[in-house]
Amino acid sequence: MTDGLASPVIAIDGPSASGKGTVAVLVAQSLGFHYLDSGAIYRVTAYAAQGVGVALEDEPALAALARQLQLRFDGGEVFLDGKPVGDAIRSEEAGRAASRIAALPALRLALLERQRAFRLPPGLVSDGRDMGSVVFPDATLKVFLTASAEERAQRRYKQLIEKGLGANLAALLQDLKERDARDVARSAAPLQQTVDAVLLDTTSLNIQQAVQQVLDWWCVCKPGKPA
Ligand code: DC
Repeated sequence: MTDGLASPVIAIDGPSASGKGTVAVLVAQSLGFHYLDSGAIYRVTAYAAQGVGVALEDEPALAALARQLQLRFDGGEVFLDGKPVGDAIRSEEAGRAASRIAALPALRLALLERQRAFRLPPGLVSDGRDMGSVVFPDATLKVFLTASAEERAQRRYKQLIEKGLGANLAALLQDLKERDARDVARSAAPLQQTVDAVLLDTTSLNIQQAVQQVLDWWCVCKPGKPA
């Protein structure tokens, strides 16, 4: 659907806890673009399912629920039926539940148009697993943002400790590896670096360096740049 009129998209995909969300938010702020946290949509869908007693394996019921969800994103907060869900969708358990339902093709299809609706002028930065491969295949810039599993576990550990929550580094690492394996191995829109995506390994980069790299790439490929 590259019609030349659609707003530009920067698609940032990568594994759990790679920092892609933080980078995507800062890039969006810097460019004045909209931001889509697609993982939050999977997380809140799993949360809503658990709230109404729909089993996380019940693909038709989950897809039907996903189509009806009353969701609103505002200032980094997610509202379900008008109520903020807060940190309830940010736990490791919520991430695991999201990863489980994310393997179901009918559920993914049910969430597709909801994600595409975020593509508004002047542009969108979206982060997830299949932003560049499925949701916005015509994205102007596709970034595959990753870091070693050990570094990602360390970052998640630090985040949880800073929030005053308990955390166990070895368990976090194990959990991340299991989630990566599930997200990569599933047949529906698996996590992968597409051939047209640039690799950004942030293992030894700080957030500012990672943001700057994406902005530099954007300067080179943005629409309207003189040849
Ligand atoms: O990015 P995150 O950790 O908030 O995502 C939670 C889960 O949702 C992740 O383990 C896989 C799934 N997900 C997905 O399958 N596709 C996306 N575009 C975003 C997330």
